Amino acid sequence: MMNQSTDTIPFARPSLGREEEEAVLRVLRSGWLTTGREALAFEEEFARYTGAAHALAVNSATAGLHLTLEALGVQEGDKVLTSSYTFTATAEVIRYCGGDPVFVDLAPESMNMDPVDCERKIRSLLDKGESVKGILPVHIAGNPEGLEELFDLSRRYGLFLVEDAAHCFPVPSGRGMIGTWSDAGVFSFYANKTITTGEGGMIVFGNPNLKDRISAMRLHGINKAVWDRYTSTKAPWEYDVIAPGFKYNLSDMAAAIGRVQLKKAVELLQKRKDLVRAYLSRLKEADFLDLPAWKEEHAWHLFIIRLREETLSIDRNQFMHILRDRGIGTSVHYKPLHMMSYYRDRYNLKEEDLPLASELYRRVISLPLFPDMTMDQVERVCQVVLETGKSFQAAPVSLGKGHQ
Ligand SMILES: Cc1ncc(COP(=O)(O)O)c(C=O)c1O
Repeated sequence: MMNQSTDTIPFARPSLGREEEEAVLRVLRSGWLTTGREALAFEEEFARYTGAAHALAVNSATAGLHLTLEALGVQEGDKVLTSSYTFTATAEVIRYCGGDPVFVDLAPESMNMDPVDCERKIRSLLDKGESVKGILPVHIAGNPEGLEELFDLSRRYGLFLVEDAAHCFPVPSGRGMIGTWSDAGVFSFYANKTITTGEGGMIVFGNPNLKDRISAMRLHGINKAVWDRYTSTKAPWEYDVIAPGFKYNLSDMAAAIGRVQLKKAVELLQKRKDLVRAYLSRLKEADFLDLPAWKEEHAWHLFIIRLREETLSIDRNQFMHILRDRGIGTSVHYKPLHMMSYYRDRYNLKEEDLPLASELYRRVISLPLFPDMTMDQVERVCQVVLETGKSFQAAPVSLGKGHQ
């Protein structure tokens, strides 16, 4: 039953303040709303921050991934290995280019693409004479585990490695910030991400050959940016169209918010980490749950718990309904793509083809996590989770003789 005395705790909420408001007002009053000075400054600041040689701002991570695959030459019939356990954007961009996603099952702990299954699938595709182009991993919840192994695989088999780093900013690694040392990394600034511009994204590169193509293709395939044309003294009306490009540029209003959020990125991450530590310590007594392992090199975009279904007399959906009725917003990350009708039917996929992803989907719940969440709110979520689990704990199963 709904507890009327308490407010709903949302699943996610952006952390925005006076500085972001002032940044937007500055742009509104400047008379220049589209891609210009602010977007350029955001790119430069982002490149400096991540240590990347270049950063290109776009209006979504989906656009960034599409542009990157296009620049890498993915075309009709090319195979790109990716995770099934992700948001649909990751695979749809392969289809935009005419390529086919080949879904890899997940490594159970991290929920990221399993490098062993990935190599098995690369070999089997190569044996069949298929055109295998690259690997597109996702760092689920902000955990880049497995990236080193996938990078090695990509170099051994001569494939590109593009990271869907939508969840994974800002995360350092031994080689530099995540996203910067593969062929390309793409970040999302969608409203619930670790930093936001409302809608937006950024591409960073380890492979410098991609920059010119992506710069042109993100704005109609024109060989000069609007801002270059505006500020140029030499025949600014003269430009060429090198290909039928896209309209994927980031507005200055969004970029201005991004510049403020970038400055707060470490502080926002610290708040997420404090909340995650509190969740982990409060929920560790729950024997009906599996919790994510603590990791320092993690963006903690999401906090995903897994129900031990066999210990409960209710299923995941019923558990979520109870949380909702008690004022707690939750979500599911993810229903795997091989279970979505488009991919299932087009590639004739069955649940048992990717058994770990199929099984995990039925157990996961993402609990509320956002920088302005209070410790009291974490406590309330934990109380409701613990009460719900305890009141629906199934009677212990008798294993009979012979079982240990
Ligand atoms: C894993 C993943 N990839 C890609 C995207 C697409 O990001 P955007 O909304 O910025 O296009 C998302 C967005 O939620 C995501 O979660």
